Amino acid sequence: MSLFTRRAVDDAALYGEPMQGTTPREIDPAGAQALLSELFDPGADRLAHSLGVGRRAEQVARVLGRPSLLVTAAYLHDVGYAAAARDTGLHQLDGARYLRSLGASAELTGLVAHHTSATVEAAERGLDVTLRREFPAPSGELLDLLTYCDITTSARGETVTVDERFEHIYDRYPPGHLVSRSMQHAEPGLRQMVSRIERQLDRPTR
Ligand SMILES: [Fe+2]
Repeated sequence: MSLFTRRAVDDAALYGEPMQGTTPREIDPAGAQALLSELFDPGADRLAHSLGVGRRAEQVARVLGRPSLLVTAAYLHDVGYAAAARDTGLHQLDGARYLRSLGASAELTGLVAHHTSATVEAAERGLDVTLRREFPAPSGELLDLLTYCDITTSARGETVTVDERFEHIYDRYPPGHLVSRSMQHAEPGLRQMVSRIERQLDRPTR
């Protein structure tokens, strides 16, 4: 067991769930990458995708002058798929709960909990009330920027267009599958958001 994991396990045991009365510990982008390499196998698509989204967020944060919280959240946005975190099947909720058990801040867990239209899939799974109660939706644009990075990064971690990304998702999950149904529902809003952020990236303002 690595130092990081041992500390995380110790912390989770110490903090319990939900954490109350404890000081949140900030995870930085380097810590996020170290955690990913412990949670996913080296060749796993989830690892490649997570690293790709993190790298995309590094570019976006640099161009738009946004905080490293965005980058950390991008690296960790899909930890809910890791065996150590999986519980309800709603990966945004599972990931946010897992990070909370490690002492992550409410800002970080809120971003992970709500990325990429989580509430749409949460409603499909009957978990929308739970999600909102445990993790209030973040205000501000960081959530959109995180979702933008996710939706423009392929399952293997390459930068793709939003059209390619939706095509891959619908190939991966057949029609009628809960994930493809949720994405269809969320697609118009996600496309609008992507166009808005691409305009911002063309003409960065701080
Ligand atoms: Fe993702």
